[in-house]
Amino acid sequence: MKDILILGIETSCDETAASIVKNGCGILSNVINSQINIHQQFGGVVPEIASRKHIENIAMVVDNAFKEAGLSYQDIDGVAVTNQPGLIGALLVGLSFAKGFAWALDRPLLAVNHLHGHIYANILEHQDISFPAVCLVVSGGHTSLLHMKDIDSYAVIGETRDDAAGEAFDKVARFLGLGYPGGPAIQKAAALGKAGKVKLPRVYLDKNDFEFSFSGLKTAAMNLWKKMKGNEELAVFDLAAEFQQALVEVLVEKSLKAAKIYQVDSILMAGGVAANQHLRLLMKEKAGQENIKVFCPSLPLCTDNAAMIAGIAYHQYITKSYAPLDLNAYPGLLSL
Ligand code: KG4
Ligand code: ZN
Repeated sequence: MKDILILGIETSCDETAASIVKNGCGILSNVINSQINIHQQFGGVVPEIASRKHIENIAMVVDNAFKEAGLSYQDIDGVAVTNQPGLIGALLVGLSFAKGFAWALDRPLLAVNHLHGHIYANILEHQDISFPAVCLVVSGGHTSLLHMKDIDSYAVIGETRDDAAGEAFDKVARFLGLGYPGGPAIQKAAALGKAGKVKLPRVYLDKNDFEFSFSGLKTAAMNLWKKMKGNEELAVFDLAAEFQQALVEVLVEKSLKAAKIYQVDSILMAGGVAANQHLRLLMKEKAGQENIKVFCPSLPLCTDNAAMIAGIAYHQYITKSYAPLDLNAYPGLLSL
């Protein structure tokens, strides 16, 4: 059978990304142009700047994806693009470009939900995942636990009631003056401190469900920081370590509880926060004690990339689930 080559385009936040993937799992190129150093000076992503930078970069990034793969435009079979959720101006840049590209080449357009892409990043690298499984989705804007019957069939069993895990990392890091993006900054600071020296709550751990809440933890960390004034230099590392521990413990315990209740022997992790070393280690350690396997994408595929978009879109291409050229972008999540 002929190989199917899909071009993926991702511009939902502050990464302009393009990738070509063969048959849903062979990554031929994966180009990511990050705007982090631009947004860093503002302490977070500035949506208007993100859109403008996507406009400046998109053509070059797509071109580089073809060069890296050693392919010409005509070689691809379909054009996949993230159309939800994300920053609306940023999404529209990728979507408009993808529509023009698909139309000019007379190839089908494929619409991808960004979070489905994050989950699929696991499949790109691990063909040995056995389903059913539980999947922990932890990104900058979302935190959910899913019961997955198969790659494309899942139910949400728990969600955050307020802040997403990544959002909590970003806000606390900003408050502590650790910089942006907050997750890697807190991870780095935490490595120099010790969890337990100061005490933060493990929110909802006592509740017998799969719901999360990180807003209270965030506020508790900020209040503790205000009280520590005068002794900041040493204390910031211990506070970062305790914050990371408190957040990660809840994610791990709830994922394990879900795996046991739903009687699955695989846990998948997806989204930017799944890049957290402490989360990866603790999840593997605790799951290992219960003979549960843990799968997570390699670090470059945890955070935003277009390989996950091109990968999942292969399955839409095969079933001819094409998107119309008047496809819209949606900032919020229509459904997971
Ligand atoms: O999936 P992602 O790249 O973008 C969204 O879809 O939101 O996730 C970004 C989030 C940010 O909140 C960032 O701070 C967090 O992932 N993140 C991390 C780490 N690397 C990125 N959080 C904790 N530890 C990390 N190493
Ligand atoms: Zn993402």
